[in-house]
Amino acid sequence: MATANPAKGKSITTPTQTQAAPAIQVDAPSRREFMYYIWGASMAMLLGQFTIVGLWFAYPRFREGEFGGIFPFDPAEVPSLGSPPISNPSGHFWVSQTEEGLMVMYDVCTHLGCLPKWVSTNTRFECPCHGSKYRINGTWIEGPAPRGLDLFPIEVTYEDGTVVTNETGIPIPLDPEKTIISISVNTGTRVLGPAHGIVDFL
Ligand code: FES
Repeated sequence: MATANPAKGKSITTPTQTQAAPAIQVDAPSRREFMYYIWGASMAMLLGQFTIVGLWFAYPRFREGEFGGIFPFDPAEVPSLGSPPISNPSGHFWVSQTEEGLMVMYDVCTHLGCLPKWVSTNTRFECPCHGSKYRINGTWIEGPAPRGLDLFPIEVTYEDGTVVTNETGIPIPLDPEKTIISISVNTGTRVLGPAHGIVDFL
């Protein structure tokens, strides 16, 4: 409200007299624009889902040293030729060295899942449940087991950088002239054991 100031003959403008800002008019999106927005949002969600699924698959599901993942095996613990196999209970595997080389076997019987033990006096694995028996390289000897012990692939790395792997689980001949610096066992990939009648892998 403007009031006259009799002292100075000027008028004073109060805050209530400020002019309102002009209204901004926003047009509603057209039908076509609306459909573009929906399409864009759908594509963004789809890409997001693909990204999440991709990351989920790429991320290792098992940590090192956890059954289902990679297990390091100390080269110093590799059994010498003719020695009993070495058990790794947390990795559920046996490590054997035979004339054929180094190999790793799943420690579960292929019959009904009991745990065969190494019996030194008989130099073979024997299952306590139904009597299946396996050689030191996991091949079947007798009993109801439908095949030999299943195998895990291993990777042997030598000091000179040479890396040897066995994706099929068959024994890896070790080079006595070289020093092994690491051995890893892939418990996430189980290879079915050899059929009856197979005695060795040579
Ligand atoms: S579970 Fe090993 S023989 Fe049956």
